[in-house]
Amino acid sequence: MSDTNIYRVQPSWKREGTIDNETYLKWYADSINDPDAFWGEHGRRIDWFKPYTKVKNTSFEGDVSIKWFEDGELNISYNCIDRHLEKRGDQVAILWEGDNPAEDRKITYKELHEQVCRLANVMKKHGVRKGDRVTIYMPMIPEAAFAMLACSRIGAVHSVVFGGFSPDALGGRIVDCESTFVITADEGLRGGRTIPLKENTEKAIDIAAKNFVMVKNVLVVRRTGGKIGWATGRDFWYDEELASVEPTCEPEKMNAEDPLFILYTSGSTGKPKGVLHTSGGYLVYASMTHQHVFDYHDGDIYWCTADVGWVTGHSYIVYGPLANGATTLMFEGVPNYPDQGRFWNVVDKHKVNIFYTAPTAIRALMGAGDEFVTRSSRSTLKLLGSVGEPINPEAWEWYYNVVGEKRIPIVDTWWQTENGGILITPLPGATDLKPGSATRPFFGVKPQLVDNEGNVLEGVADGNLCITDAWPGMMRTVYGDHKRFIETYFSQYPGRYFSGDGCRRDADGYYWITGRVDDVLNVSGHRMGTAEVESALVAHDKVSEAAVVGYPHDLKGQGIYCYVTLMDGEEPSDELRKELVAHVRKEIGPIASPDKIQFAPGLPKTRSGKIMRRILRKIAEDDFGSLGDTSTLADPGVVDDLIENRQNKH
Ligand code: WT7
Repeated sequence: MSDTNIYRVQPSWKREGTIDNETYLKWYADSINDPDAFWGEHGRRIDWFKPYTKVKNTSFEGDVSIKWFEDGELNISYNCIDRHLEKRGDQVAILWEGDNPAEDRKITYKELHEQVCRLANVMKKHGVRKGDRVTIYMPMIPEAAFAMLACSRIGAVHSVVFGGFSPDALGGRIVDCESTFVITADEGLRGGRTIPLKENTEKAIDIAAKNFVMVKNVLVVRRTGGKIGWATGRDFWYDEELASVEPTCEPEKMNAEDPLFILYTSGSTGKPKGVLHTSGGYLVYASMTHQHVFDYHDGDIYWCTADVGWVTGHSYIVYGPLANGATTLMFEGVPNYPDQGRFWNVVDKHKVNIFYTAPTAIRALMGAGDEFVTRSSRSTLKLLGSVGEPINPEAWEWYYNVVGEKRIPIVDTWWQTENGGILITPLPGATDLKPGSATRPFFGVKPQLVDNEGNVLEGVADGNLCITDAWPGMMRTVYGDHKRFIETYFSQYPGRYFSGDGCRRDADGYYWITGRVDDVLNVSGHRMGTAEVESALVAHDKVSEAAVVGYPHDLKGQGIYCYVTLMDGEEPSDELRKELVAHVRKEIGPIASPDKIQFAPGLPKTRSGKIMRRILRKIAEDDFGSLGDTSTLADPGVVDDLIENRQNKH
């Protein structure tokens, strides 16, 4: 990575009120020197039913306790809807673009209010109360956002599960948070293909029942009109139910620290964790980052291409933009349908000003050729964003030169599900850009690099990325397992939040994320534990053992490489490879499809039985000249076979 290409802030990147570098430096210093004063002031950017008198009460030591604005009361849906009604009731809140380019919908703030109130009343009618967990398993349609906001209106805690996850994954998540109310659709629609959401939900409900979690009601949105199964008394049509209730619903008064949502994410061990976010601090942080990182101005058309099933969709399709009274575009489809020009056609069609997507999409579109881009105008664009994985400088330059025509800034935003909002990022009017660097911390964020022993690294350094103090948007706990929260994030380097990412800091103090340093994969921006893929593989009856590692992949960032040892008597074959791929897709979902499967008679283990992943990673990368010391292996002979049969020969 070279620091040579610097793109200086252009005067044309600034509009009235855009934060400049002087302001960034001052605010940043203030936020670090006196967080109480800084966040005490910025906390008032949202409306409180009862103002807070306390601001920050947090500790990364011992039991780890994170509280912000702890005596304040508010309602999230009130902040995202009601408070805008007077000024912008007729402004479009959600601008929906269907999978089919002929389909779109515009939902004004007034309409959003009615839809959310009605849905909140339906949930109440079915017995959903403050604190209850509601699972949302939806395609990218406005009803997904209505569902999230309706939960927040009555104080229910939503758990959105990505529509691409399998029935097993959905069932596990329903069980973990003991959710008895599910909102879904008959089918999803993406790239012209249907996804059997209701059918998957039924299978998930059966899995939940076997684990003694009984789903009482399923609310079903009619999306495709496809044929589905039905359990009378349990299943209800969304449209029919909404028509039968009042169009207004008083927002519940919530404490700042009442839970808003649970979102499951993968770690290096065990099952996915339920990341718990609460209300006040989360909304302050999501709305403030949305405003300043994207330099959002009133009237802008803002588009984040993520799915609401991921945290990016939560914070930067729904909560951040709506809290700011924005018009947020929600896209049901995929970047390459009907063709690879779709993103730019949508930008032109809806006059999009701010566009936020993932490196994996940028790389795929770059590969399709400039023609798909240059035949569109894109003249309304003012800013481009990137999130989800490190963006390689080549893709960055293409995004900047071809998509942005060297005219507009790119914000490369680093953050995680656990963080609630963006932590390291340029501010477009303040930060000179370097392709591939997420640049500098947002207000209130204190990054620290440490070596593997926890020694703090100063100045230019390469290490493990920690954050040393709390910010308002951070997760509060792992749902139902506070011990796991402490162990996962605060035990490796005590007193600090450890991100799991490696990172370099250059001479200008810019941060360059180098990727995960734990056993977590990032495949096309989707996060996945190697342990999850391994347990899916060993659940197959022909598999005795499996070890999974990532390897560099041109389009996906990382590919999934699986070493599989078969049961005695089973023969390796291409057919079995296909069977195992299909099996993992069924267990987790298509995003976890293995790219490479290598049948291995044995895995490299230490004498105590620990698999030496370092060796497996090297072989998967086709870089076995530097395997290091293999003498501690119980059977050093297995390495030769692994090298011989590697699947990534260059
Ligand atoms: C992991 C978090 C919240 C964003 C969506 C993914 C990687 C994310 C960047 C970036 C380099 C990035 C990190 C992080 N990541 N953004 N701009 N540059 N790496 O959220 O699923 O919780 O994954 O994504 O490795 O730890 P997530």
